[in-house]
Amino acid sequence: MRVLVVGAAGTIGQAIVRALAPRHEVIRASRSKSQVKVDLTDPGSIKAMYAAVGRLDAVVCAAGEGVFKPLAQLTEEDFRFTLSSKLMGQVNLVVYGMDHVNDRGSFTLTTGILFEKPTPGSGVLAVVNGGLIGFVRAAALELPRGIRINDCCPGWVSETLTAMGMDPKGGTPADIVAKDYVASVEGTATGRSLRSVG
Ligand SMILES: NC(=O)c1ccc[n+]([C@@H]2O[C@H](COP(=O)([O-])OP(=O)(O)OC[C@H]3O[C@@H](n4cnc5c(N)ncnc54)[C@H](OP(=O)(O)O)[C@@H]3O)[C@@H](O)[C@H]2O)c1
Repeated sequence: MRVLVVGAAGTIGQAIVRALAPRHEVIRASRSKSQVKVDLTDPGSIKAMYAAVGRLDAVVCAAGEGVFKPLAQLTEEDFRFTLSSKLMGQVNLVVYGMDHVNDRGSFTLTTGILFEKPTPGSGVLAVVNGGLIGFVRAAALELPRGIRINDCCPGWVSETLTAMGMDPKGGTPADIVAKDYVASVEGTATGRSLRSVG
């Protein structure tokens, strides 16, 4: 398969690329650190990326930024930024990408556990992850030509906890998290929020 991975330079993205690369042609995209440049906050950049990369069998996204802050400190700009990056960035990847994906291809987006199990500070990300899970369910009903869509819903990733100076045992290694992405790309599920571990 020809698989586009957006966010390929990231903690989860690198693990997805490692898992897919032995069996598929993987095209790596992100703002600055990948072969193909795209900024999810800019719809024009998403359209330009699809025009440049050609036909695809699968699009995987492990990108999209979000603000994590106590409710009392959250601003409208924090919501606007996170909605435009993690939520609308991934929605636009589907809306502008569906004509570039082959019959029976797939989209795999990234949500996260903070919708199902919020913690203090997760107000914006709970909104965004919940919105994306709803979008995936709805889009699965309408995508044409047998195209599938799922989201992967990681808990904390061990490498991220280490980078934050926290105990990595509370998380799941990125290579394990990547297995859900591979299952979405290579399997038959659609309209699902995948979280087998963590
Ligand atoms: N790590 C965790 O513990 C965890 C847990 C649950 C959910 N998640 C979610 O998983 C996703 C990836 O997390 P991660 O920890 O792997 O992040 P990360 O290590 O920060 O990597 C994110 C990647 O996305 C790219 N990127 C960021 N903003 C972008 C944009 N606007 N347009 C295009 N590319 C962009 C970055 O590369 P460039 O700088 O080159 O653009 C980077 O390669 C995020 O949505 C996060 O909320 C993560």
